[in-house]
Order: sequence, then structure tokens, then C-alpha cells
Amino acid sequence: MALPSARVVRIWALLAVLPTAVWAGFALTQANIQTSLAHGPLIAAHDGVACAQCHKETRGTVRQQVQAQVRYVIGLRETPVDFGYAAVQSDQCLACHARPNERHPIYRFREPRFAEAVRQVEARSCLGCHSEHRPEIVTAQSTLCQACHEDLVVKNDPVDVPHVTLVAQDNWSSCLGCHDFHGNHAFKPPSKLAEALSEPAIWAYFEGGADPYGSPKLYEGKEP
Ligand code: HEC
Ligand code: HEC
Ligand code: HEC
Ligand code: HEC
Ligand code: HEC
Repeated sequence: MALPSARVVRIWALLAVLPTAVWAGFALTQANIQTSLAHGPLIAAHDGVACAQCHKETRGTVRQQVQAQVRYVIGLRETPVDFGYAAVQSDQCLACHARPNERHPIYRFREPRFAEAVRQVEARSCLGCHSEHRPEIVTAQSTLCQACHEDLVVKNDPVDVPHVTLVAQDNWSSCLGCHDFHGNHAFKPPSKLAEALSEPAIWAYFEGGADPYGSPKLYEGKEP
């Protein structure tokens, strides 16, 4: 059978992508169908944050985007096109959540020495541990610290069950009981394991419940 001509391929590719482009663009502007297309409502803390704070329009007209997508379909372009709206990026989060005291800044983990760690926990992006449109405020496992702290040594360790012991016992679910991740809470880590926050309290927080580290935060997200 003869291969279809490039022109025929182009027309088909155009027809295939147009509905998605138009639908996605339309849906993001229609309040009543917005949440039906998205996976679910925003987390409570983001009440009032506009869709456009996180979903940025891509550059170029629909026509240019369709042309670029056709090039992708026929193999002249390496990546598919973001139709109308680009994938959400950490930059959008940082616009409201950048803070000078960050203990684990995402850019640090682009260094090659973290290549193995980021295969376990995608620490280079906010979305490696957070999402949106779902009930959880944190999507990572509560044992995530293991990916980077297996060689942990704390000098003059003040903890009654020292860190070397916690690590030897693979007690990775204990860490968040005494340390928040971002270092953004005025929370002093206790030195007795019995005084650590309980695991259920941490899980409830991940699922959208009360913040167990308590107020005040050193930096609050910017008001929408
Ligand atoms: C705080 C940031 C944020 C806000 C505000 C936000 N979104 Fe999202 N949205 C995301 C993230 C992150 C994803 C990708 C994760 C996922 O698939 O759930 C996403 C995914 C989506 C998707 C699925 C398509 C895709 O690109 O994966 C749709 C549709 C969507 N959002 C619509 C909306 C609408 C409509 C609003 C306003 C009511 C909104 N979003 C507000 C962050 C946000
Ligand atoms: C328009 C500003 C704005 C944007 C954009 C934004 N946030 Fe927020 N976020 C806030 C505010 C305000 C709060 C509530 C105050 C606080 O907890 O700091 C908040 C709270 C949170 C919380 C804590 C929720 C809780 O219940 O304790 C998380 C987690 C979070 N944001 C993650 C993200 C991520 C991830 C993104 C990017 C996908 C993002 N935010 C984008 C303003 C924003
Ligand atoms: C490697 C996993 C990971 C990454 C990457 C990550 N977070 Fe978090 N984040 C957590 C965990 C775990 C918590 C809960 C513990 C805490 O409150 O620090 C949290 C809590 C939060 C909170 C609520 C507490 C606070 O500090 O105000 C906000 C807001 C937040 N993250 C925003 C972000 C933003 C913005 C990014 C990207 C710049 C990001 N996170 C990247 C794991 C991560
Ligand atoms: C992707 C890698 C990675 C993950 C995951 C990770 N950390 Fe870290 N953490 C680091 C690095 C790198 C440092 C900086 C070490 C240094 O500067 O010597 C650090 C530093 C720290 C510090 C000391 C901060 C300071 O101010 O000196 C604490 C406490 C800490 N991490 C706790 C945790 C806890 C608790 C978890 C799990 C919730 C965790 N980390 C997960 C890489 C990581
Ligand atoms: C019982 C509470 C407790 C538990 C559990 C705990 N820590 Fe700590 N951690 C502390 C205290 C107290 C310090 C001393 C420094 C301080 O006050 O911040 C410390 C220090 C650290 C430091 C060095 C900070 C610095 O300033 O040099 C890191 C990194 C760290 N812990 C990571 C972890 C990890 C990873 C886990 C899980 C295996 C963990 N911790 C479990 C209480 C705890």
C-alpha cells in the first residue's frame, strides 16, 4: 500500500488535535465545567487562587500550536505541543511560596550527585511531592527522607535514640515527627523520641488536616 501523502497526514493530524485544543481552551474559561474537567477541587489553602495563577497560556496562536503539533506527528519535531495551557511548573508555585530560609531548595537537587536520590523522590520539582485537584496536600511518602539521608551523622547528637540508631533501624517514618521538611515552621525538634509528633498526625496533615507543627509559619504563601 502506498504511504499517505504528507498533505493527507497533515489534515488528519489537524483534525485529531483540534477538538482537544478548543475544548481545553474553552473549559478553562467556563467556571461551571472547570472542576468537572480538572481532577477535583483545589486544596482549602488555595481557596481563591485563580486558575491562571498556575495554568499559564502557552505562547503562539492556536494555528501556530496546531502547526507545531503536526510537525510532531510527522516526526519533524521532538516534543508534543502544550495546547493552549502549559504544564504547571514549580515557577508558578514559587511566585507565591519562594522563601529565603528554604531548607531543601529544589534547584539544589539538579546537581548530579542527587541523580539516584531524585529517581526515588523527584525533589527537583514542587510537583514531585505536591499536586493539586486532590485532597492530599503532600503526595510523597512520609518515609521520603531515606532517599538522601542514609549516611546521616549528627555530631553531639542530643536525641535519646540517636540518629545513627534511627537510621540503623530504618525508622524513616520518625523523621517528620521532629523535623518539618521545608524548615518553615517555628518548631523546635524535641530531643526525646517519645515527644515526637505521631505518625497519624503527620498522615492526617498530608491528607489536608490540621498542621501539627503549629503556627506561626516563618513565611506564609502570598495571598491570591
Ligand atoms: C495551585 C495551582 C493550581 C491551581 C490554582 C489550579 N490548578 Fe489545575 N492543575 C494544577 C496541577 C499541578 C495540575 C496537574 C496535576 C494533576 O493532574 O492533578 C493541574 C491539572 C489540571 C487539569 C488537568 C489537565 C492537565 O494539565 O493535567 C485541568 C483541566 C485543570 N488543572 C484545570 C484547572 C482549573 C479549571 C482551575 C481553576 C478552577 C485550576 N486548574 C486551578 C495546579 C493548579
Ligand atoms: C497565588 C498564590 C499561590 C500560588 C500560585 C500557590 N500557592 Fe500554595 N498557598 C498559598 C497560600 C496563601 C497558602 C496558605 C498560607 C500558607 O499555608 O502559607 C498556601 C498553602 C499551600 C500549602 C499548605 C497547605 C496546608 O493545608 O497546609 C501547600 C502544600 C502549597 N500551598 C503548595 C503549593 C504548590 C505546590 C503550588 C504550585 C502548584 C502552590 N502552592 C501555588 C498561595 C499560593
Ligand atoms: C521532596 C518532597 C518535597 C518537595 C520537592 C517539595 N515539598 Fe513542600 N512539603 C513536603 C512535605 C513532606 C511537607 C510537609 C512537612 C512540612 O510542612 O514541611 C511539605 C509542606 C509544604 C508546605 C506547607 C508548609 C509550609 O512550609 O508552609 C508548602 C507551602 C509547600 N510544601 C510548598 C512547596 C513548594 C512551593 C515546593 C516547590 C518549590 C515544594 N513544596 C517542594 C515535601 C516536599
Ligand atoms: C532529595 C534529597 C533530600 C531529601 C529527600 C531530604 N533531604 Fe534533608 N537535606 C538534604 C541536603 C542535601 C541537606 C543539606 C545538608 C548539608 O548542607 O550538609 C539536607 C538538610 C537537612 C536538615 C538540616 C537543615 C539545616 O538547616 O541544617 C534537616 C533537619 C533535614 N535535611 C531533614 C530532612 C527530613 C526530615 C527529610 C524527610 C522529610 C529530608 N531531610 C529529606 C537532602 C534531602
Ligand atoms: C526525637 C526527635 C528527632 C527525630 C525522630 C529525628 N531527629 Fe533529626 N534532629 C533532632 C534534634 C533535636 C537535632 C539537633 C539539631 C537541632 O536542634 O535542630 C536533629 C538534627 C538533625 C539534623 C542535623 C541538623 C543540623 O543542624 O546539623 C538532620 C539532618 C536530621 N536531624 C535529620 C533527621 C532525619 C533524616 C531523621 C529520621 C531518620 C531525624 N532527623 C529524626 C531531633 C530528631
